[in-house]
Amino acid sequence: MQKEIDESNELIEQETKIIPVPIWNEPKTVDDAQIRIERLGTNMHQHAYLVGKDLKWVKKQLKHEEFLPWINDNLWFGERTAQHFMRFAKECDDKGNLLEYHGHRTFKNVPGTFLPKVYDVWNFSECDDRFGIVYPGRIPGQLIMNLLNYYTEENDIVVDFMAGGGTTYDVCKEMNRICYCYDRKPTREFIVKHELRDKNGVVKLPQLTETPNLIFTDPPYWSMMKKEYGKGAISELSLKEYYEFIEKFASECYKLLDNGFFAFLIQNQTEKDIPVGEEAILHTHNCSKIIEGVGFKLKRIINCPLHTQTFLPQQVNKAKEETRMLGLVRDLLVFKKCQEK
Ligand SMILES: C[S@@+](CC[C@H](N)C(=O)[O-])C[C@H]1O[C@@H](n2cnc3c(N)ncnc32)[C@H](O)[C@@H]1O
Repeated sequence: MQKEIDESNELIEQETKIIPVPIWNEPKTVDDAQIRIERLGTNMHQHAYLVGKDLKWVKKQLKHEEFLPWINDNLWFGERTAQHFMRFAKECDDKGNLLEYHGHRTFKNVPGTFLPKVYDVWNFSECDDRFGIVYPGRIPGQLIMNLLNYYTEENDIVVDFMAGGGTTYDVCKEMNRICYCYDRKPTREFIVKHELRDKNGVVKLPQLTETPNLIFTDPPYWSMMKKEYGKGAISELSLKEYYEFIEKFASECYKLLDNGFFAFLIQNQTEKDIPVGEEAILHTHNCSKIIEGVGFKLKRIINCPLHTQTFLPQQVNKAKEETRMLGLVRDLLVFKKCQEK
């Protein structure tokens, strides 16, 4: 505490904030240092933008002559720095991008803003707002970013036959991949309407003019979101029919690919419609076997766990009472077409 005498001669106590120096760990490589600099740089610019916006907001609330004294009395920087912050925020708003103050480099497509997952557990706390729209079963765009990073090149062709809210498309656009999207209920203009299964159980893919490098599939995890996907969706099928669909669908995708990858995201089911005597439906294991059965070779299992918040407190309490585990296991199964088939 610092003691001061103010104008009315009253002793006041002013708090001195001590901000400790953070711990610096030596980078292992120059690449590591670059990643850290880029990441901190991004945070720094985001913070500068928010500070600039706040300053402008405060300026509006106060009388003209009150603003400068307010800065001097309350902030750790002066008028000139405040002007820089506000000008920076305005530039960002004008361009719709976070800019570097000098040089106007946008952060779009700067590799440092995307930090690939190095391990085969891809855990994301929330969906990146830039990718996809609010949609039942929306996946984090970061998952697709990592998938594209490891299994595609720029200008590769990526196809999503169950596109939902268009997450795959948005990420492809950001990462310069060509993307074709389909769904039985298109939600956005670039998603083409296509029903994968007719009433007789025949599975047909849309006609493509190019051979995909990667087919990404995020199907309904059987009946888990039956209500949300509506009548006619594969979530309405019996479990047997659902697995038959997966087999036919994987087989059609196999025919479509040349040397490409088939990535399939699937979650185990531990709630709802569990057959009597079973504790879970192991979709990840079952689908993996089915897809291998049509000729694909399983190359990688990437664990993309769900959050514990996926379950309601009532479900958690019920599971505890019944001494059973709830499932957070969701796997991204990456297959490759084996040419010898
Ligand atoms: C899990 S959601 C995909 C979510 C998407 N990955 C996202 O991030 O927004 C599964 C999608 O499969 C679609 N679908 C279900 N049955 C289908 C069918 N028979 N033909 C085509 N699409 C189907 C649903 O309409 C739904 O949009």
